[in-house]
Amino acid sequence: MPVGYIEEPEINEFRRLLNLLLTHSQNTGGKIYLITSAMQGEGKSTVSSFLAMSNALYQGQNTILADFDLRRPTVHKLYDLPIQSGVSEILSDSITLEKALKMSPNPNLEILTAGSTAQTPLEMFTVSNLQRIETSLREKECMVFLDSPPIIPVSDTLLLSNFVDGILLVVKAGQSQKKVVQRAIDMLQLNSNKLLGVVINNLENALPYYYSQSYYDYRYE
Ligand SMILES: Nc1ncnc2c1ncn2[C@@H]1O[C@H](COP(=O)(O)OP(=O)(O)O)[C@@H](O)[C@H]1O
Ligand SMILES: [Mg+2]
Repeated sequence: MPVGYIEEPEINEFRRLLNLLLTHSQNTGGKIYLITSAMQGEGKSTVSSFLAMSNALYQGQNTILADFDLRRPTVHKLYDLPIQSGVSEILSDSITLEKALKMSPNPNLEILTAGSTAQTPLEMFTVSNLQRIETSLREKECMVFLDSPPIIPVSDTLLLSNFVDGILLVVKAGQSQKKVVQRAIDMLQLNSNKLLGVVINNLENALPYYYSQSYYDYRYE
């Protein structure tokens, strides 16, 4: 990380977002946070990675970033890690969490890549498999950030949301249709009451996204 980078405004915005999640964690004992979106390409992987990195860096807290987007995995690319031996193998009970966790450049941040097995996500995302990985993650006493598939096209995330303590919905500004976002919010709220807030990710506006007051809107239920 270049010197000075950590003081960039966008990094401060992630720290502010993180502080809001940490407050939720302190108030509720929550540890596992899911980052999702209505559709793909809205910034889930970017936001979850920055949140995990910021938590490891600024809180010095043991942190896990886990790639549950088994259909379009990207976390291994961001950290230049092999995809194998990760979430898929834990879900199919062929490896333990301890064995699957990979090092990142930050000693406080461990990475769980998506993994690779012959099973499909649908076969692996069963209640008992998810319960098993949840139990292992909670035993670690870490803050855990789950990157996940989008809500509308696949059912994985709604099931996954039953095992987490809070959910952030990333919305790509200027692209996501309001009714699609509303449908995603409705689906999450119908399923559980864990939606903590909506992160407006402004990828392409002329002004840097972090100057915008609407960069994110965070609300407690
Ligand atoms: N705030 C941002 N500013 C610039 N580029 C971004 C921002 N958020 C995401 N991106 C880029 O947009 C693309 C999609 O983001 P990604 O996090 O992979 O989305 P998702 O995981 O929701 O599919 C990636 O190339 C990522 O680097
Ligand atoms: Mg992604």
